[in-house]
Amino acid sequence: MKIGILTSGGDCPGINATIRGVCKSALNHYGMEVYGIHNGFRGLIDGQVNRLTEDSISGLLTLGGTILGTSREKPFKNTSTSTNGNKPSIIQNTIKNYGIDCLVCIGGNGTQKTAAKLMEVGINVISIPKTIDNDVWGTDISFGFDSAVSIAADAIDRLHSTASSHQRVMVIEVMGHKAGWLALYSGMAGGGDIILMPEIPFDIHRIGDTIINRLKKGKPYSIVVVAEGINTPDGKKAAQYIAEEIEYETGFETRETVLGYIQRGGSPTSFDRNLATMMGGHAVELISKGEFGRMVALQGNKIDSIPLQDTAGKLRLVTEDNELLIQGRRMGICFG
Ligand code: F6P
Repeated sequence: MKIGILTSGGDCPGINATIRGVCKSALNHYGMEVYGIHNGFRGLIDGQVNRLTEDSISGLLTLGGTILGTSREKPFKNTSTSTNGNKPSIIQNTIKNYGIDCLVCIGGNGTQKTAAKLMEVGINVISIPKTIDNDVWGTDISFGFDSAVSIAADAIDRLHSTASSHQRVMVIEVMGHKAGWLALYSGMAGGGDIILMPEIPFDIHRIGDTIINRLKKGKPYSIVVVAEGINTPDGKKAAQYIAEEIEYETGFETRETVLGYIQRGGSPTSFDRNLATMMGGHAVELISKGEFGRMVALQGNKIDSIPLQDTAGKLRLVTEDNELLIQGRRMGICFG
């Protein structure tokens, strides 16, 4: 069998470990041929495809980013326009020309949508969820999330120094797109006093009261962790808006930090390396059984898979029954 592999959407720690898991399992255990497709779905349009061997996948376990390159190409978007209208058929031809029996798509929500559409036009696909946002529906955790949480928690730890030394409010903005997973998990791990997420509406007076109450208890500083996706007026940047409002509300000297792409860079944690390895291997197992059109998923402690149609177009958000949120609330952390 011949399989193709591509990585699409934002990069994150653990993609290379997944490529390694897929390739090693396919080459060593199943005797398959593997083709690397460069720069996401764009590589299928431009024909950027090359054979992967043991040599080309050496040293990948700990490496950040993706050796295959990535893009946010959406071949099915605006298929009414003449250029995009051609893309699905160009992709079908590329797959046919290389004799690829199944395509492994590593990506986030956008990738799951495109993968489901590729199945509809007759291309065999298996997808693997990848994102620091942890917002892919159907998997409990996507690889990249644990690494991003640990980078963000480390940054929050470091902000405590300036917060306490200068008696300031420090606002840190973390990524997460429209979900609050990264803010919740890094905020709790980093000891944030206030954690704001898109899922929970906030009240600036309540945030101000929390900061003033801390002062009354002898803590004249606070750490506020803000998800980039919170609702702000006129589309203002999350951290900037919250910092301005806090300063106005409390009179506290307030500073903001936007962590940005640092959260997506560098080596994956051990957890992500192992999750990526297991998901990569499971993808090849599904291919070997001819079980196409599925997304590999972590459910509880088990690596399983779900139909691609079940996840495509859905978003996994933090809900009120989240254990970390419940315990955080009981501890007096302000969530808005
Ligand atoms: O989905 C991952 C992510 O890093 C989000 O957290 C963020 O909103 C987005 O990608 C940034 O995208 P880009 O790389 O296109 O700037």
